Amino acid sequence: MTNQFVVANWKMNLTAAEASALTQEILPSCSNLSRAQVWLAPSDTSIPSVSQIIRGSPIQVGAQNICGEPKGAFTGEVSATMLKEFGCTFAITGHSERRHVFGESDLATAKRAAGCLQQGLTPIFCIGELLEERQREQTEEVLYRQLSALMKILEPQEFENIMIAYEPCWAIGTGHVATLEIIEEVHSFIFSTLKTEMTAPKAILYGGSVTPENFGPILKVKHVDGGLVGGASLKAESIIQLIRIADA
Ligand code: PGA
Repeated sequence: MTNQFVVANWKMNLTAAEASALTQEILPSCSNLSRAQVWLAPSDTSIPSVSQIIRGSPIQVGAQNICGEPKGAFTGEVSATMLKEFGCTFAITGHSERRHVFGESDLATAKRAAGCLQQGLTPIFCIGELLEERQREQTEEVLYRQLSALMKILEPQEFENIMIAYEPCWAIGTGHVATLEIIEEVHSFIFSTLKTEMTAPKAILYGGSVTPENFGPILKVKHVDGGLVGGASLKAESIIQLIRIADA
């Protein structure tokens, strides 16, 4: 049985006390998992306490962004070494909020993911088109441009350790989940592009308005290995449901 990932992106929503309380509630449902992989991405300030709570459990903790550089004069940034000190095993890079709210370019995003990988953490490299890009039928072109930035700076075999998250911007936090047809089409495009030009990635996640109601059917789509979940990961009841669905 292949792994199915539930990656919780808590964004800037929980204080350390709140993130700890939520982690404590999730913990018992993760003691006997067979295929669900539960990865939590709290704010950096919550990582130390979440990390302590999950110690000895199969849950993994990671960051919502990471600096590609190992060390130095990079005000406001956090390095892989700093994250590893608190038990992080992965980092999200290129989330659409980083790209579109904070203006991170394709290249800047790719450098973060490459640095993350080369310093021993698994990057979850997010890609996705805006609504107007989909309407103009530019989805594949945009995704290819975002992927190429990373393909240009990594060796083909390095993609084995990269996770890709397809997150259409118009589906994030809107309640408008992508249709199963769109997810299938795009995940196949991502898989075949990487398999042909590099090597198949470790996993391809779908993100954007995932809920316990739609997660089961999404997981059945070819080349979907799990979900990157924002809103529905913030309540114990719904993230526990997502974990059960991924473990089934
Ligand atoms: P959402 O967010 O599940 O709230 O749509 C997903 C994400 O931004 O990763």
